[in-house]
Amino acid sequence: MNRRKFVSAMGQGSVAAMLGLKASNLLAQTSGHELPVNCAPPTHGLPKHKVFSTSGPVLPRKSVWDLSSSEVTRLQKAYQALRNLTTSNPNDPRGWMQQGNVHCYNCSGGYDPSNIEIHGSWWFMPWHRCYLWIHEQILGKLINDSTFRLAYWDWDTYPNHAKVPPPFLATGALLDTYRGAKATDVIPSSITGPTHMKIVMGTQGTKAFMGGPSNSGAMENNPHGPVHIWTAETSPSQTPIPPGCFYPNTPGGTPVNQSQFGCLDMGVLATAAQDPIFFAHHSNIDRLWDVWVKTPGSQGNWTTTTWLNHKFNFYDENGDWVYLTVADVLAAQEQNNLRYNYQAPQSATPLALAQVSVQRAQVRLLKPVVVSSRATATPVGTKPHVKTIALPQVHRQNLRALASGGARRYVLHIDGISVPPDESTILDVFVGEPNATRDTEIGPSYVGTFSVVVPGTRHTHNVMRNAVFELRPETAALLADQSNLTVTIVPKQVDGSEPQKSSVTYRRIYLSTE
Ligand code: C2O
Repeated sequence: MNRRKFVSAMGQGSVAAMLGLKASNLLAQTSGHELPVNCAPPTHGLPKHKVFSTSGPVLPRKSVWDLSSSEVTRLQKAYQALRNLTTSNPNDPRGWMQQGNVHCYNCSGGYDPSNIEIHGSWWFMPWHRCYLWIHEQILGKLINDSTFRLAYWDWDTYPNHAKVPPPFLATGALLDTYRGAKATDVIPSSITGPTHMKIVMGTQGTKAFMGGPSNSGAMENNPHGPVHIWTAETSPSQTPIPPGCFYPNTPGGTPVNQSQFGCLDMGVLATAAQDPIFFAHHSNIDRLWDVWVKTPGSQGNWTTTTWLNHKFNFYDENGDWVYLTVADVLAAQEQNNLRYNYQAPQSATPLALAQVSVQRAQVRLLKPVVVSSRATATPVGTKPHVKTIALPQVHRQNLRALASGGARRYVLHIDGISVPPDESTILDVFVGEPNATRDTEIGPSYVGTFSVVVPGTRHTHNVMRNAVFELRPETAALLADQSNLTVTIVPKQVDGSEPQKSSVTYRRIYLSTE
């Protein structure tokens, strides 16, 4: 049995009693790790608006691979200081474990009274940006270095950087010994390879790229989620733990079956930020958000005040309970308020994104094509799941307009996706290719991937999500030639194999123009 996971689940005292050991021995062996059952923040009053210091230098966050050896040492030193703070004062809200719990309590159910959920919607991008920055401020303060900046893991520099960055493998504060990925493992190209990243970064709609009020976006679904799972998962050949990120829960939040813990820390949202690589992973998501906003054709950030004025609360580097608004941290503000920008990876070949064509053809608004809609939930299963409906002629003409350079108006929706809280889920979605399988290459028929990383701790309700996928011109060209609209949902595990089980269901699939 995996000692740490056993200990975490049982509580150190009871395990010590069972094994006849002194609790202090166990603490020594397991320090720095826990599976929080209730990850609420320390008590606080009303938050104050964070005061930004807009004077200091704007400094780059760099690829981990581009850090000098003294910068690597500084990164290690900062994380060591953070870990030490948890040991010296576990109640300090800035310490390592408290920092990890910030992610836990902002993930619906981790902290019941608030029921905040910053995944699966348009909060995903701005909340994580705020969290990273607060984290960066704390690290800088602990080592008394205001020039400290986080480093990012550019897994999209493929395949060279699509593996665990060396500083995170070295013994020290950046290592998480419970991480599954090994030095030689490479992230599958269907997650961060150039063909897939080009599709993600070429997404034009705001809702489709960064998520909307009630749907997750392309960036969160893939690469983000699958990279979490990949990092966590121990390959089946290395362990008796069954593959797949399954996380058994009981109503009290106590896991029941340790033999199935194949995916801590990064593979469970409640513990993901207990692996320092979390912050490097999210810095890359944050960087790519910046790149996307500046990409020709991108519709850019949301402009509604509901989004811009939304507040996120944190304990800052001074231990004060503060809030930041979304508007505080948007692109221009990154340099005004947050004092960082991104240095492009020095060894990467930039993705050659398709030229945005001058929009000649007129894509009209039409009534949606409903592919499937049922009052009861439809199970997806573990094998490719296919749904077909006749595609009206008027839509086929309209799709041709998109194919020849018209606005990207077509969106495929899968609504009411329900994922049990103990199953990580990856679904590839294809259109116009009824026989798509797990081996189907990414091409015109691929519209995107939906994913959920298990929330963990205290989550007893299903995760409910809506997914949207923007059709690209080549996809529209494929569909325009077919008399039926076929949607194929292909469940898979992060290594591309068939899931052992799947309890995922959905309510409705439809194609709409927006
Ligand atoms: Cu808040 Cu990568 O998840």
